Amino acid sequence: MKTILVTGGAGFIGSHVVRLFVKKYPDYRIINLDVLTYAGNLENLKDIDTLPNYTFVKGDITDGDLVNKLFETYPIEGVIHLAAESHVDRSITDPAAFIRTNIFGTFNLIHAAKEHWKGNMEGKRFYHISTDEVYGSLGETGLFTETTPYDPKSPYSASKASSDHLVRAYFNTFHLPVLISNCSNNYGPNQFPEKLIPLCIHNIQHGKSLPVYGKGENIRDWLYVEDHASAIDVIFHRGIIGETYNIGGINEWTNIDLIRALCDVMDKKLGRAQGTSQQLITFVKDRAGHDMRYAIDSSKIQHELGWKPSLQFEEGLSKTVDWYLKNSDWLENVSSGAYEKYYDKQYHQR
Ligand code: NAD
Ligand code: DAU
Repeated sequence: MKTILVTGGAGFIGSHVVRLFVKKYPDYRIINLDVLTYAGNLENLKDIDTLPNYTFVKGDITDGDLVNKLFETYPIEGVIHLAAESHVDRSITDPAAFIRTNIFGTFNLIHAAKEHWKGNMEGKRFYHISTDEVYGSLGETGLFTETTPYDPKSPYSASKASSDHLVRAYFNTFHLPVLISNCSNNYGPNQFPEKLIPLCIHNIQHGKSLPVYGKGENIRDWLYVEDHASAIDVIFHRGIIGETYNIGGINEWTNIDLIRALCDVMDKKLGRAQGTSQQLITFVKDRAGHDMRYAIDSSKIQHELGWKPSLQFEEGLSKTVDWYLKNSDWLENVSSGAYEKYYDKQYHQR
């Protein structure tokens, strides 16, 4: 049985990756290491958490003793590293947590992998999940490629850039078998409602204002989360060691157009008159250092590994809204703080 350590598997993208791997590869043992910050939620995995090839470990990637113990206890052959502080706005108000988890936590993991795999790197893979934000901001034209120079602008993206550099340094210096991917904005079920799309879904549902930073002209390239998980599967299994792959949705939207489209989808699903929810749009103070445009050139993963996004945005948005409307308890729990109580109750029973 192949043992793979996934970090951050209780978060948004991590939970989709864990589910995909646990179901698709019954002969793999998937160990999910997650400290369960506000963004981690075991409820995201309740449909698979009793499967025999899944193990949850509550722990912090910055805890060297714990990470070493995991490598000593289990014959870990692969690491898929998603654990991170992931929200740009929080990195502006509280950057220290980003430095600790994203930089020191990544260092801790690669160093443990190097020590435990020393002398036997054959078949091992350390796959670091990163973001397109490391490349900075685009003007009106152009796309981020794998060779675009790094130019991070927020404490979040600077911490992710730093972790990418460390991972590459361990490849160059110690021949640690690494893979890196840099993905654009994800959306879909289980995303914490601090991020634009679930925040707006929640507020539209409750008739609350929709805060649009600045003029709403910033552009993001949106990818359905299950398509990111399938790209991670492809790269983990078929990517070339030492290589970087950009992943994107080929799907650019200004924030204001996206919010208007979301309002229209929700008005229809909630049986409200068209135009009702758009009245909730409120322009607010811009994010400090707000990157103008992200857009990914994903031709490398498309041509070399045969991956491409499977969903059109209209379909993905509709599926996402349906999920949040059907799972309003999930949204209420994570937004009311009740989740912590849920976790204590559930976790101490495990
Ligand atoms: P998320 O915030 O939803 O989840 C992060 C998970 O990591 C949570 O479960 C949290 O409990 C866990 N975690 C945080 N600190 C930890 C620590 N010290 N030890 C152990 N676990 C810890 O994040 P996400 O949006 O799912 O992003 C996952 C990864 O993908 C991140 O590395 C992020 O940079 C990257 N990424 C995200 C996006 C996006 O649009 N969300 C796009 C590209 C790349
Ligand atoms: O590009 C990949 C990145 O995408 C990931 O690395 C990050 O982890 C992820 O959080 C996301 O970062 P963004 O900052 O682009 O996502 P966010 O959902 O916070 O914001 C999307 C856009 O919407 C951005 O231009 C800011 C704007 N925005 C966001 C919020 C929360 C608003 O206008 N109003 C809001 O209330």
